[in-house]
Amino acid sequence: MADLGHDVLGVDTDSRKISALRDGQASFYEPGFAQILVSAVGSGKLRFSTSLADAASFAEVHFICVGTPQLPGALGADLSQVEGALDALAPSLTRDCLVVGKSTVPVGTAARLSARLAELAPPGISARLAWNPEFLREGFAVEDTLRAARLVAGVTSAEDDAVLRAVYAQLLDAGTPYISTDLPTAELIKMAANSFLATKISFINAMANVCEAAGADVVTLAKALGHDPRIGGRFLSAGLGFGGGCLGKDIRAFIARASELGVADSVRFLQQVDEINTGRRRRAVDIAREMAGGSFAGRNVAILGAAFKPETDDVRDSPALSVAAAIRAEGATVRVHDQRAIENARQACPDLDYSDDVLKVCENADVVLHLTEWQQYRELDPASLREVVRSPRIIDARNVLPLGRWQAAGWTARAMGATR
Ligand code: UDX
Repeated sequence: MADLGHDVLGVDTDSRKISALRDGQASFYEPGFAQILVSAVGSGKLRFSTSLADAASFAEVHFICVGTPQLPGALGADLSQVEGALDALAPSLTRDCLVVGKSTVPVGTAARLSARLAELAPPGISARLAWNPEFLREGFAVEDTLRAARLVAGVTSAEDDAVLRAVYAQLLDAGTPYISTDLPTAELIKMAANSFLATKISFINAMANVCEAAGADVVTLAKALGHDPRIGGRFLSAGLGFGGGCLGKDIRAFIARASELGVADSVRFLQQVDEINTGRRRRAVDIAREMAGGSFAGRNVAILGAAFKPETDDVRDSPALSVAAAIRAEGATVRVHDQRAIENARQACPDLDYSDDVLKVCENADVVLHLTEWQQYRELDPASLREVVRSPRIIDARNVLPLGRWQAAGWTARAMGATR
């Protein structure tokens, strides 16, 4: 927002995060973000505070960008952070404003929060609510924000729509599609988008299961499907399936909300999308066990990648870490490499061994698993890695390694769903 020319005050309840941000330091890795943060802080366009009272007197537009994780032990979303932010902000408001939700929420939440905002705002203050879902991908967050594929605005009046159009004027001038709609449609667009993406990934992973059984090749199959413009080639990479803080918890929250609305049957397929996805993690463990000789007891297993995908240090619901932990639970010694995510991985799975040196991780390994497709793994030299392992066996769970080169260097190499 500061980069788009606005004066911005960022608020968080975590004072350590806020003081680091004031120094231009983020608590996470995101390509391009460090530079844009330093420049926005340096220009004075972006300031930080732990006080919502500061925000209340400062802004005419407030964005709520907090998380909506899965409820512990249930499918639904935990809305306490969104509700907490609104409840803390509303009574402190001193000027008319638009409060805009960015978080992914079950349909119906915005209408409820809209009534709550009107009730909690001080008398005489006009505070309205809009919903403007976030579609950014980790690893491309800066790009997806400054050059969004589309903007969605759920609004209740033409006046609020005009406020959002003004906020995003620079993107609109550049031709970004802008969809103005009501609150429930805006909320549902985000749920539908993530459900579609998850379904696309699970579809190709279902095909990978069939390919494995039939001796066919899912990579070639996906390539051929992708040439059909009605299907499109993106999000058809089969292998270990999806993870991260969004797709899994969003499809579960959607199932829970559809059930409350009496339309559970309409999204029942998402249950299978989820099951196909977690099945791929079990499949990776099965293939690794088979390659390790039928049991992990006393085996050394090297894991390449801990982040839920490349170009991030996020390990939330990471397929790689979940496979690593399952193999460790079966008695192997598991060593994990990642170029960015080791600190977060260590906190999430303290029982695993970690190193930022691929050779060390692979030392004496009985089997190597490539689980997160960082570019650096494609450039590994199979011959020199062969020198350090105990048995040259590798599984490419992301279908991107040049396995022919590995085989030529004496490795037994298997892909997931592909016959390479
Ligand atoms: C996702 C949505 O893409 C984004 O629009 C939304 O705002 C948040 O959720 P993100 O979680 O950052 O973004 O990652 P994404 O790039 O969608 O990948 C999700 C997972 O799917 C990763 O684990 C990735 O490895 C996996 N994936 C992706 C596949 O397994 N195959 C694919 O073809 C694509």
